[in-house]
Formats: sequence, C-alpha cells, structure tokens
Amino acid sequence: MKMDKLVMVLSLFSMTASLIACGNSTVTSVISENAPISLPEPQKDSDTSIEEALWGRRSVRSYGSEAVTIEQLSQLLWSAQGITSPSGWRTAPSAGGLYPLKVYMVVGNVDNLAAGVYVYEPDTHSLTKMIDGDLRQLLSDAALGQLPVQQAAVDFVITGRYEIIMSKYGERGVLYTHLEAGHAAQNICLQAVALKLGVVTIGAFDDAGVKKALSLPEGETPFYIIPAGNLSD
Ligand SMILES: Cc1cc2nc3c(=O)[nH]c(=O)nc-3n(C[C@H](O)[C@H](O)[C@H](O)COP(=O)(O)O)c2cc1C
Repeated sequence: MKMDKLVMVLSLFSMTASLIACGNSTVTSVISENAPISLPEPQKDSDTSIEEALWGRRSVRSYGSEAVTIEQLSQLLWSAQGITSPSGWRTAPSAGGLYPLKVYMVVGNVDNLAAGVYVYEPDTHSLTKMIDGDLRQLLSDAALGQLPVQQAAVDFVITGRYEIIMSKYGERGVLYTHLEAGHAAQNICLQAVALKLGVVTIGAFDDAGVKKALSLPEGETPFYIIPAGNLSD
C-alpha cells in the first residue's frame, strides 16, 4: 500500500470522544471507537546482517528532526510482536505461547500518521488509535523528565498482563512476563540498527504516571518505554 494512501481518514468513522484534562494541563481526546489502520507489509530482508546489528546496537538518546516513516514504524512493530507463522507464533518467544504483551506507540513525528497514542494489533498487522494528541511530554514527565521520551519521533511502550501467564505458570509467570518484554525490546533495538534509527530502552518511570498518560486498561503494567528517532542531524 502506498504511504500517501495511509493518511488517516478517522473523520469518516463514527467515534465518540471524551475530553480529559491530563496532569500538566495537556488536553487529549480519548477515542472509544475506531477503525484499524493497515501497516505496510514488513520486509523479510535487509543489508544489515544480524552480526552487524549486534555490533551496532547502542543506546541513542538524541534524535534528528526528520520524521520516522510508516514503513520504519511497521518494521519496528513487526520486530517486537509480529506474527511469523500461520499458527500465530511471533518474532519474540512467549512462555506457553500465551502472548501477554501489548505494544503502544506515543506518536509525535511519524510521516502520514497523526500525533496520538496507538496500539499494535499483531493479528492484522495494523494500528488502532486510542488517544488523539501529542502525549510525548506527558510520557516524559512520567519518566522522570527524561528528554529522549519527549524528543523521540515515537515512543514505544511495552505493557503486559501478568494474569495471562500466571494462569498457567503461577508466581513464576511474573518473571516470564518480564523476560518476554525483554525479548520484544531487544528485537526493536536490533531492528532499529538495520533501519538506521536510534533507540534507548527506558525502565526509569513512574508506573502510575504511564498508566494514567496512556489510559491503560486495568490490569496492564508498563514494562519499558523505547523512544525511537532518526540519528542526529
Ligand atoms: C532494564 C533497563 C533499564 C534502563 N533504563 C534506562 C533509563 O531509564 N534511561 C536511560 O537513559 N537508559 C536506560 N537504560 C539503558 C542503559 O543505560 C544502557 O543500556 C547502558 O548504559 C549500556 O549502554 P548501551 O545500551 O549503549 O550498550 C536501561 C537499560 C535497561 C536494560
């Protein structure tokens, strides 16, 4: 699908929105009904070998002003949780194949994608918009003011539901959920090298602040924020 065809036509769809005032007076609109946004097909090849990606991976905390493309966004999401088999298995391993993770994006500077909070839908390789507006500053506030979160073109937020894994593995499911989040995060880090983008994995944040900023559903815990952007100008 062509990029310019991906321009959102959210206004075509009926949606109800309720206005909420967030902590630092940022006003956002929480969307209660929305249509999925198809992503470009993920690529299966690149000029970067897995060894080059491992050698090149480094935490990058400042970014260029150029927008991230929808193809790059698609590829990063696929690397984190994309489906790679007709049976539904994904890029990252999962204890018991139960898949407790979700990947949200706080979008600020992605070509042809309006600022807002989106969630990745692996089954259809698509996005659903959850919240209108640029929430990067609010997310940065919840992450102790860390600048990469505010300056990234897009922040990925990996969350999970413990009960999905704990229903099979009991208390050990907590560890398994954390391990799985690490797998997904490392995939994003390596894929970013191949795409010549910079990312950093951020664990220092206030859980309650992130949950509030993203209006996360009850029972979902944020594990990682991963700001992503072009390498510095
Ligand atoms: C669990 C975890 C939490 C981290 N949290 C932060 C963070 O809050 N802010 C940050 O700038 N870097 C964070 N980092 C990145 C580390 O600082 C970084 O990986 C380390 O300095 C090594 O540098 P490298 O990633 O370039 O090899 C975190 C890394 C991990 C694994």
